[in-house]
Amino acid sequence: MKFFADTADVADIADLAATGLMDGVTTNPSLIAKSGRNFLEVVKEICGLVDGPVSAEVVALDHATMMKEAAVLRDLAPNICVKLPLTIDGLKTCKALSAEGVKTNVTLCFSANQALLAAKAGATYISPFVGRLDDIGHDGMELIQDIRTIYDNYDFKTEILVASVRSPVHVLAAARIGADVATMPPAVIRALAGHALTDKGLAAFMADWAKTGQSIL
Ligand code: E4P
Repeated sequence: MKFFADTADVADIADLAATGLMDGVTTNPSLIAKSGRNFLEVVKEICGLVDGPVSAEVVALDHATMMKEAAVLRDLAPNICVKLPLTIDGLKTCKALSAEGVKTNVTLCFSANQALLAAKAGATYISPFVGRLDDIGHDGMELIQDIRTIYDNYDFKTEILVASVRSPVHVLAAARIGADVATMPPAVIRALAGHALTDKGLAAFMADWAKTGQSIL
């Protein structure tokens, strides 16, 4: 399972990239606004920090302008993945870009039929938003399971990129289903490593080691 960082904070991305455990980054217009940075500048900087795909989202709503924006984004770096909304114009743009070999991430997916359309449009990634579905009383993970089943039924190559992840519980559930990628806020990525018994066990080992009076180096 691949792990993407869902942020436009370059300090967080650099810190996480140094672990060697990050496979890419996703951004969206809200995360860019939160960063307070110029969109094109910050995305270019992020592309230099990670080897994997960096999703940068178009903001046009019509196909012709989306294509023009995608051309600007593609010029930023070779690891750009053009993020497109799940609308008819977004799907049309996805189909055109995919035919040119451009990586695409179709975002704001809330139903299995939407995911089916994105796969038919040749999307590299489909981003179902599990947290936002949970927020309105639906089961986000049911959607991930449905998409997994449908993509496997037809051998679609589009990767399931679980988005709107709010906690390690989402990550575990997505991994059990066999989702390809989870994109997570940095706090969730760091929380995956934490366990109270790990901390307690390590403290006990350190205390006992101190009693031996030895050192390795
Ligand atoms: C990622 O591609 C999405 O834009 C992001 O995960 C949305 O998360 P949110 O629902 O917490 O805003």
